[in-house]
Amino acid sequence: MLNSLPHQLQPLDSDESESQPVEYPGKWLGRFQIVGELGRGGMGVVLEARDTVLERHVAIKLLPRSVSGRPDALERFLREARAVAKVNHPHVVAVYDADQFNGQYYIVLEMIRGGSLQDLLKAGPLSWAEASQVLVDACRGVKFAHRAGLVHRDIKPSNLMRSADGTVKLSDFGLSRPNEPTGTTMTGSGSVLGTPQYMSPEQCRSERADERSDLYAMGATYFALLTGQPPYLGDAPLLVMNAHLLDPIPDPRDVDASIPGACSAIIRRAMAKDPDDRYANVAEFIADFEELLASAGSATGTRPLPFRASQFREHQRPRRSPPQQQNWGASSPSWSDGSRNRLGES
Ligand SMILES: Nc1ncnc2c1ncn2[C@@H]1O[C@H](COP(=O)(O)OP(=O)(O)OP(=O)(O)O)[C@@H](O)[C@H]1O
Ligand SMILES: [Mg+2]
Repeated sequence: MLNSLPHQLQPLDSDESESQPVEYPGKWLGRFQIVGELGRGGMGVVLEARDTVLERHVAIKLLPRSVSGRPDALERFLREARAVAKVNHPHVVAVYDADQFNGQYYIVLEMIRGGSLQDLLKAGPLSWAEASQVLVDACRGVKFAHRAGLVHRDIKPSNLMRSADGTVKLSDFGLSRPNEPTGTTMTGSGSVLGTPQYMSPEQCRSERADERSDLYAMGATYFALLTGQPPYLGDAPLLVMNAHLLDPIPDPRDVDASIPGACSAIIRRAMAKDPDDRYANVAEFIADFEELLASAGSATGTRPLPFRASQFREHQRPRRSPPQQQNWGASSPSWSDGSRNRLGES
């Protein structure tokens, strides 16, 4: 299949993935014709491409040289990609393939058209019912993956994606960062692996992450969806990591007093400093959300909001200035505290 490259077309040069700016459209990676760049994250460039054999659009994540040049890291990456490829679930972004072309390693993913929850947060926080429904979707994907023995380690709003019909899918299981065999959080050069705003205390201590670390990150993500800002603010990654270790668990009602107390209770449990004090598993987490959403339905006499794309569109609100900007690099969020569209208000 790799030899089917039409010779008159230009292949993607393997050095191009880390230099910028690069003109990708029209280039080829094996059988994939590149349409354009979708974005860049901690691991490198993500491209939209057309699979010319299966005739569908896909997202392609290019592996940076820092990973593909290290046989041990590459082997771990490929092992994880194989594991994730077995996770076939409606709330997990599918991994279709992993391959290399001209020495450029890449992973082929289901193309998701609706953007990420991080993109959505730029317009302001979600209503508590919407935020809870997002978490239910994400939890279902996580539950399936945990059963398959996979821990995500980097759950955050930018790794929750919306498909065109509004279904929320979890992306980047083990892919968003090189998969370190220990719980290593700091690189040799002193930069942080993972995303400090959503990192569990044990990950901040460079200890091994387990399923309960994902529950902590989901609690932190829930806080961000409810309030429009991450749970701990700080001017530097180490300050935020220190807050995860030592500061009291934040209450979203301190940001917006109209958020139900039950949301604060869920965050208190999910973000407990000691993993033993958290939900024991995702099923318990889902049960609390279902109870919360059911009570919302019975209070209003309606079903809880089905979380669909049209509601995201209704959700566009004017941006206000962010409460406290954090400038740590490309993956740092820009938050807004825009007004909310609550259950029953639309
Ligand atoms: N399967 C996909 N379909 C469509 N767009 C995608 C897909 N995966 C990633 N993207 C987009 O590509 C960009 C980079 O994603 P990537 O996962 O590399 O980084 P991130 O999640 O934003 O940050 P980090 O690297 O810190 O995890 C984002 O804008 C994301 O929305
Ligand atoms: Mg990502």
